[in-house]
Amino acid sequence: MAADVDLSKLPPDSNRTNLTYDADIKPLFRVSCFRCHTGAKPAGGLKLDTLEGVLKGGKNGLVLTAGDSVHSPMVIAISRLDPDSAMPPRMRRRPSAPSPGTGAPPPGGRVVIPPGGNAPGSPLQPPMGGPSAQRGPMPKPLSAEEVGLVRAWIDQGAR
Ligand code: HEC
Repeated sequence: MAADVDLSKLPPDSNRTNLTYDADIKPLFRVSCFRCHTGAKPAGGLKLDTLEGVLKGGKNGLVLTAGDSVHSPMVIAISRLDPDSAMPPRMRRRPSAPSPGTGAPPPGGRVVIPPGGNAPGSPLQPPMGGPSAQRGPMPKPLSAEEVGLVRAWIDQGAR
């Protein structure tokens, strides 16, 4: 995570109380996160469709600290203050128009794919986020109010 994120820019906590994952957070994550963070190979090793998965964290460890939303990586991610860790991920920049000469083979010939698809001995590299992450439009980012709700839920103990 970038160290230069201005934490004072985080949306403020919602003033709602008695927040729970199942009633208040899961519906938000279903819309914006489930596409990539569920199933057998969730993005970043992080499952967001159960409270257990959220509390367990991902490949880099815990994504939240109950009672301390400001220092919870998940909150930095959903506030999208840091482009590198923003969740849902920011769209990759793509060329806005087809380059001239579209349809011509690349200079130097074609890409060689060995029989079986992978060179012998090469580690299998699943696409980041799993196959489902590549399909369809990017889910919508959480609004400031929704980030505030996640913050309040974490600050109330992430139950
Ligand atoms: C389009 C797919 C996609 C969506 C939608 C998405 N994520 Fe992610 N997320 C990823 C990928 C891919 C990674 C792993 C990034 C890496 O390894 O550098 C990741 C990593 C993370 C991490 C860091 C996990 C770790 O331990 O490193 C957090 C936290 C996270 N996502 C939260 C969310 C939340 C919350 C949402 C919904 C608001 C969300 N993501 C939506 C693809 C997605």
